[in-house]
Amino acid sequence: MSERQPEMHQRRILGTELLWSFGVGVLIAATLSIIIFTAMTMSVNPPSNVEHVDPKTLHLSNEFTEANLGTKVEAGGQVTTRIVATQFAFDPQCVIVPANEPVTLRLSSPDVIHGILVTGTNVNTMVVPGYVSQVHTVFTKTGDLLMPCHEFCGFGHSQMWATVRVIPRESFRPDADGRVTCEKS
Ligand code: CUA
Repeated sequence: MSERQPEMHQRRILGTELLWSFGVGVLIAATLSIIIFTAMTMSVNPPSNVEHVDPKTLHLSNEFTEANLGTKVEAGGQVTTRIVATQFAFDPQCVIVPANEPVTLRLSSPDVIHGILVTGTNVNTMVVPGYVSQVHTVFTKTGDLLMPCHEFCGFGHSQMWATVRVIPRESFRPDADGRVTCEKS
């Protein structure tokens, strides 16, 4: 055995380690770039809203009572749409939002974990019992968009979906209470 062998061995180990470090570095850089790129250009961000709500009394008091669900233009002019995700339906089944205007979606669940996405938009969030899921967005195209539940929530999961009806701002006419519903338009 020559004396140089251990030294060469060390060098090979160092070479392999540097190669792996470089590979991992490239992966991390690529991942971060994708996250930053989608956040800047498509407004795709991880949900950041941490807001507690009691799932046991969700439909009995406060924000998510039956009468308060759906789309409402708040006092300040902000359009807010409230939806309850429950096994195995959304309440309401159809909501109306105006195009090209900031809309806030607020969802909550009284039973199990659901998830929503609105096809063709950046809206995509989990709906976890005990929390209010909130998404700010602007719908740019008019039409009926499918909003399916995308988290397996039980046997009726595949039948759980709603419609988000995006209408031109001119046709978006709130009633005296600031409400707009699919039935009335
Ligand atoms: Cu709700 Cu799947």
